[in-house]
Amino acid sequence: MPSLTVKAVAHPTMGIVLLGGLSDPVLRLPYHNSAGICYSLDDRESVSETTLTITGRQLKNTLNGEPISENDSRSPFKFIDIYRDEMQRKFKGNIYFNSENRNIISGSSDAGAAALGKCISWILPGIDQKELEMNMRKVSESAGRSYHGGLTVTEGTQKPFTRKILDESSFENYRILSVVFPHKRKPSDDIHFNQPRSDYYKKRIMNATKNVETLKELARKNEVKKIFELAMADTDDYHYLNDLVNVNIITDEMRALMERVREIRKRMWATYIVTGGNSVFLVTDANMVEKAKEIAMEHSREVHVLKVAGGARVVDTKEED
Ligand code: MEV
Repeated sequence: MPSLTVKAVAHPTMGIVLLGGLSDPVLRLPYHNSAGICYSLDDRESVSETTLTITGRQLKNTLNGEPISENDSRSPFKFIDIYRDEMQRKFKGNIYFNSENRNIISGSSDAGAAALGKCISWILPGIDQKELEMNMRKVSESAGRSYHGGLTVTEGTQKPFTRKILDESSFENYRILSVVFPHKRKPSDDIHFNQPRSDYYKKRIMNATKNVETLKELARKNEVKKIFELAMADTDDYHYLNDLVNVNIITDEMRALMERVREIRKRMWATYIVTGGNSVFLVTDANMVEKAKEIAMEHSREVHVLKVAGGARVVDTKEED
């Protein structure tokens, strides 16, 4: 049997119809449908680059150059082990994992899980894609977004499945500024395990479900501006709920920029998205990016220009006897 090296890359993601609330802390199952996009820095690829090697040689397992142990609780081996026997029926030796994040500003776990999922899927082309997504989401609940790329919806609560509804090429004429504020982000689990406690949560499930339906309609008609406007309304609803349960993601500084965006919308097209982190994402026409950047820099010194990116892909393979 031959030995093998397979390398895949995947991009980080952000929500468009934001995911809030998980019914199972291990399987990380959602209570409602959601939607998202993959993104990259505009001038350099932002990716998690993951290599799986199956070989008789002795190698090290690493994450960003640091050694990782197979027994670690968040170890990628929890995921690899599910497919270990099947992979070792095709290739001979131990399985090694090496992963590096390149130019990822924050939130690499979707990309990491998706790149690994892509490697496994290349080795085992017949595997059930729904099962694969269920296994990826145990590592990171929105990995499906990163796996498929472009604009995706994730539907279902017991066996959620993600599919692409609009190709990244439809977003070519748009840029997203990540305006980063210098405070530490809260863990997303604060959102996921507090939102369902609110009386408003039932309404949030209804709103998110409806927003996903509207989004699918807008994607069919390629109405990109309206997609981002819907994302802005969804951000407002999501953080209204977060504030009700005292998970305050939006600081005064972030709120000031969001208000500024609402104000400039009278003169120039722009929208915002805030997910779970310490950034306001400011969406603009590509030809207005310099103007938007000027405005953003009045609010923060750290601004990155992003664009919508594609799905996970295999970039290199090598088989040896
Ligand atoms: C994290 O699981 C979910 C958020 O990032 C929102 C989203 O992207 O849908 C907080």
